Amino acid sequence: MSSRTSDVLVIGGGIIGLVTAWRAAQRGLATAVVDPAPGGGAARVAAGMLAAVTELHYGEQTLLGLNLASARRYPDFAAELTGLTGQDLGYRRCGTLAVALDADDRAHLRELHALQQQSGLESEWLSGRECRRLEPMLAPGVRGGLRVDGDHQIDPRRLAAALVTACERTGVVFHRDWAERLEVVRGRAAGVVTRAGAALGAGQVVLAGGSLSGRLAGVPDDVLPPVRPVKGQVLRLTVPARYAPFLSRTVRAVVRGGNVYLVPRENGELVVGATSEELGWDTTVTAGGVYELLRDAHELVPGITELPLTETRAGLRPGSPDNAPLLGPTRLDGLLLATGHYRNGVLLTPVTGDVMAQLLTGGELPEEARPFTPRRFGTVLVEQTA
Ligand code: GLY
Repeated sequence: MSSRTSDVLVIGGGIIGLVTAWRAAQRGLATAVVDPAPGGGAARVAAGMLAAVTELHYGEQTLLGLNLASARRYPDFAAELTGLTGQDLGYRRCGTLAVALDADDRAHLRELHALQQQSGLESEWLSGRECRRLEPMLAPGVRGGLRVDGDHQIDPRRLAAALVTACERTGVVFHRDWAERLEVVRGRAAGVVTRAGAALGAGQVVLAGGSLSGRLAGVPDDVLPPVRPVKGQVLRLTVPARYAPFLSRTVRAVVRGGNVYLVPRENGELVVGATSEELGWDTTVTAGGVYELLRDAHELVPGITELPLTETRAGLRPGSPDNAPLLGPTRLDGLLLATGHYRNGVLLTPVTGDVMAQLLTGGELPEEARPFTPRRFGTVLVEQTA
């Protein structure tokens, strides 16, 4: 490999790759990131809900533990990042209200409430009238809701920008190019060759390529992570000053089986998401996607049709077979994974940075990350004793 070596090379400069690089560099490792546009990726589209409680799903109680571990880190994480970079992250401890628009939605929310209570989580059932007292812009027909004061939000674009700055200030080197192929030397990951032909050597390589993680050439088939793209279309609107505060917290609902959420930022941006589509690498914004989001958001908050629509965009969530991330070593020496965060990439950023830094400095896998090693998928076995 070339002389351009580092202790750690992170493939992918989205928020997961950046937090891994920042934390590794903080621990004294010479760290590099390879990505054509660091700070891009799915975080450019994501709404940034930190929704460990309202996005709880049956069968995902193990993931809940990791989500909560990361949610607990957020206040200190955000303060540290802002302290280092001087950048506001749009971190807003505003809480979330999940509402029901009809009897079916209400039954669904009641079940979610029961699951939250069994899981020891804090949420409060409100009548429709109580929901509207909290959020007067809600439709008069709202039948009830769950108030979750612990589910907050952050602006993922600002988070990504701050992580780029934090990496720069901590000495992380950026190679602004695509990683074309993993180099394996004597059975060990040794770096990558970029599209422009540069050879970047490293003692350890972290594959943090989001939905692209399953496609890197040179990675043995039985090591490639089983990650697939799951398309999400998201809208951005602006709340003019005369309508503020339009909403004071994140408002969400399940409408006709699909999730719709409205995330109000302090700067007047209102993010409306998201579709969930298994369409491969397609990132087209479709009339149907925009229509469905606006239709459902309008049922929830009729006044939304008055607001300027400022952006429509589609991104790709890195989905894994069990909706949980893959964190840790693979059976290929020197190659670690930090990918497959699916719906929870923004929420899981702080804990992912800590877990990966611990592993990269030779530490034990932290307790909360043990269920999420690549070992749980048959095609990606970890040889601890090899
Ligand atoms: N976590 C929100 C989404 O993936 O749409």
